[in-house]
Amino acid sequence: MILATPRLVLAPWTERDLAPFAALNADPEVMRFFPKALSREDSDALVDRLRGMWTEHGYGLSAVRRREDDAFIGMVGIQKVLNPAYPFAPAVEVGWRLAKAFWRQGYASEAARGALAHGFDVLDLPEIVAFTTVTNQPSQAVMASLGMTRDPADDFLHPLLPEDHPLRPHVLYRLKQQDFRR
Ligand SMILES: CC(C)(COP(=O)(O)OP(=O)(O)OC[C@H]1O[C@@H](n2cnc3c(N)ncnc32)[C@H](O)[C@@H]1OP(=O)(O)O)[C@@H](O)C(=O)NCCC(=O)NCCS
Repeated sequence: MILATPRLVLAPWTERDLAPFAALNADPEVMRFFPKALSREDSDALVDRLRGMWTEHGYGLSAVRRREDDAFIGMVGIQKVLNPAYPFAPAVEVGWRLAKAFWRQGYASEAARGALAHGFDVLDLPEIVAFTTVTNQPSQAVMASLGMTRDPADDFLHPLLPEDHPLRPHVLYRLKQQDFRR
């Protein structure tokens, strides 16, 4: 499935996305709020998992390309959070990760708006969440610009990180369907 926004397309993963996606995942600055940067092998395995989620659920995180030059800019989309270790699960989350060259041009929020519109208007989801580590201000700025709101009562410790890991404290933002339409 392909979603178009004014400047971008969110599209299924193809073989030619693998190299630029691996480059982005190997960049320590892009990955500074994640436990580690990814090897080519880990990045390709992630794409396999993302494709599997698409097959299983009919939606997921997409490859994002710029319409004017077909440049691969990163990954954005909505996906299910089913692991009961997350205190807000089951839920649908929206997420984003872009190559540095494409930051601060409104692309993450534009792509996310396209993914949210699909989730609310087509899939009729009642709510979509987003989460990140407390120190990830850029990601929280995207959440706020989408009209998502944080209730500190929803803050949580990431269940899959070790107890003493500095990235463990996380914030949760929520957006209800009626608030997206407003
Ligand atoms: C987070 C990320 C996707 C933002 O992408 P982006 O395309 O630069 O974001 P946008 O240009 O759409 O910006 C949306 C809003 O966030 C703000 N913002 C973006 N980057 C910011 C930064 N570094 N510091 C402060 N605000 C920032 C923008 O000013 C904008 O606010 P506005 O709507 O009030 O003008 C990008 O920085 C990234 O890929 N980071 C690394 C991966 C990552 O951390 N992903 C999230 C994991 S949860």
